[in-house]
Amino acid sequence: MDERSAPLPYPSGWFCVGRVRDLPPGRVRTVRLMGEDVVLYRTRRGAVRAVGPHCPHLGAHFGAGGTVRGEELVCPFHGFAFGPDGSCTGSPDGVRFRGSLDRRRLCERDGALFVWCAPDGGVPAWELPPAVGVRPLAWWSGVDPTHPQEVLENSVDFRHTRVLHGLDTRETAPPEVAGPLFTVHQRTTTRFPGLGAVSLEQPVTLVGLGMMRLAVELPQVGGTLWMWVLPTPLGPWRTRVRVAATAAVSLPGVGSARAVDRAASWAALRATVRILEQDRPVLAHKRYLAQPRLVPGERSIGLFRRWARQFYPGDGPGIHTEPPPGFRSVSAEPEPDAID
Ligand code: FES
Ligand SMILES: [Fe+2]
Repeated sequence: MDERSAPLPYPSGWFCVGRVRDLPPGRVRTVRLMGEDVVLYRTRRGAVRAVGPHCPHLGAHFGAGGTVRGEELVCPFHGFAFGPDGSCTGSPDGVRFRGSLDRRRLCERDGALFVWCAPDGGVPAWELPPAVGVRPLAWWSGVDPTHPQEVLENSVDFRHTRVLHGLDTRETAPPEVAGPLFTVHQRTTTRFPGLGAVSLEQPVTLVGLGMMRLAVELPQVGGTLWMWVLPTPLGPWRTRVRVAATAAVSLPGVGSARAVDRAASWAALRATVRILEQDRPVLAHKRYLAQPRLVPGERSIGLFRRWARQFYPGDGPGIHTEPPPGFRSVSAEPEPDAID
């Protein structure tokens, strides 16, 4: 599918390009983002940088043999070196030229690396919220023929959680919108081995179209579970979805132990991926409908789509209805008993 025929264009935003731990000092890696390569590297002192892949001298690809020397990135073709500000700092015979790396904005949050990407090449319009402060202990990733908006729309689609996943999930309050953040209030009743039916009430926060994160308090095991779902647009209708989990539990008689946290993190990750595996065939074959026939109880899907418009140029793909007055205020209107 090329960019013109993709039913949703690329959105702007911060998108995960990998794990912090996969980029040790001295490492150069190429990642894919919105149909282009981005080269990541970590300097010897530990600074992480993201740049366009081609050298400004004669266009060699830094990912094909580029190296890190101290704080510089060195091109494999003629050995020109580039410093922290992107400028050319030297070469094997001491010659320099005026020219700079195509630097990309990058930030780290909770063990993951994010690069700002906008189809129009614009500078970041917003920053990612502060890190939660924990490193994921379990990770999963898969590539699907879909779009980040389609992946995240599932977080406000409560009918599918009952039918497709067999989960009793209910929305407990209307979503809250605050700029690039969209917070969903929900309660899920599920069964935990050894604990029986457990009701989990947790807000789910969408951070642009590149991150969904939630924190679940687990009083039964004296702990907290953090989960992240990170969709990254690789190509026009090709998305890598990463899922990460961190559990911090304190069991009676055992206390808190790294091994217990790790096992609980993997258990939570596996349970989430089992759910995602049920979504994947639907996501792979569904068509994005700009004018869906929403029924009562699905107002949040319309709100989500209007919120998502801000990540596209112009009016965005939207749902072809006018946003309600005051839509951009912090609290959404209560749900009407009518078709949206
Ligand atoms: S192309 Fe990179 S140094 Fe010549
Ligand atoms: Fe789902």
